[in-house]
Amino acid sequence: MTRADAGPRVERGLPMVLPGDDPAAIAEAAALLRAGELVAFPTETVYGLGADALDPAAVARIFAAKERPSFDPLIVHLADALEVGDHAEAADASDPRVARLAARFWPGPLTLVLRKRDHIPGIVTAGLPTVGLRVPDHPVARALIRAAGVPVAAPSANRFGRVSPTRASHVVRGLGPRVRLVLDGGPCRVGVESTVILLAEGRAALLRPGGVPAEAIETEIGPLEIATPGAPGSAALAPGGSGAHYAPRARLEIVDPFGPGAAHRLRARPGERLGLLATSSAGAEAARAIGGPFAAERLLAADGDPVTVAAGLFEALHDLDAAAVDRIVAQPMPAVGLGRAVMDRLRRAAREA
Ligand code: TXA
Ligand code: MG
Repeated sequence: MTRADAGPRVERGLPMVLPGDDPAAIAEAAALLRAGELVAFPTETVYGLGADALDPAAVARIFAAKERPSFDPLIVHLADALEVGDHAEAADASDPRVARLAARFWPGPLTLVLRKRDHIPGIVTAGLPTVGLRVPDHPVARALIRAAGVPVAAPSANRFGRVSPTRASHVVRGLGPRVRLVLDGGPCRVGVESTVILLAEGRAALLRPGGVPAEAIETEIGPLEIATPGAPGSAALAPGGSGAHYAPRARLEIVDPFGPGAAHRLRARPGERLGLLATSSAGAEAARAIGGPFAAERLLAADGDPVTVAAGLFEALHDLDAAAVDRIVAQPMPAVGLGRAVMDRLRRAAREA
């Protein structure tokens, strides 16, 4: 596919979707990135909307396409952990905790926020002195970054505040012609975004729970400070970390089917299309016994396994939106391991965070 071929398809309102395992597609995508265009690509967490991180005009296109506020910084994706020293200040890049976490979790769903070097444009970091760096664990993502030969700034490939995409079709539906090319890598394995850790200036703070459990990080480097949304100073620490986010079109409520007063909230009102998002079979059965009827149901994991729940969470929210439900009742789960990221995303979708 040449760039000239892309024109008419963009005018018809569709981005190109090409197979991510095709070297010609990778070359095409890399050429678009180098030309300052946007490319959506799969990672192990969610699909990213990528631009050349060193090209401020290209990065500005990301903010425009997502309708994302400029105070929310982007993660810069690298092909190899060895490149951290190219983009982070020497004092932070040589922090032994960085080496430890990189060795244990990269490539993988972990973002390290370190003091940036001067060549990282301010638009990438929303004017912060720090930059989020991540080496994704997906062959298509890494092939693309390598072929482009530049670090790739990429937020999740959804409009701001909406549910993150875990399939190429979610990107096409959400962004349409705002992106030139989508590399299709099938469904994302992890299903929730990376864990974001601030390691600048000797600190260690959890800015966003995600695909690497906080407990596993603490095993490597000791206790983490928690940057609680709403706490003094936390807005500057984790600019994207507060406010409504990940919202499906339908209103979402977290309802424990085993909790007090559940029956009332789990019952569909007259004329209401109610959706059920269950995190275990036991929860689904309890919800059906006391509530409903449900116009659509999604069971994320029969046994409630948090890794399985995380993997299917965003896809289920996209599906329930497609089923045009008016309200979604979501079953909570213990906030341990990946359950912490799941509950963080559910609370934001419910606008409780
Ligand atoms: O898994 C992921 O992290 C995905 C894939 C595409 O890699 N990306 C992603 O990006 O979730 P995004 O833009 O949706 O979320 C990035 C978040 C920001 O909202 C912010 O909370 C944090 O990462 N972040 C990035 N750079 C930061 C910085 N310099 N200081 C503090 N937080 C930062
Ligand atoms: Mg996002």
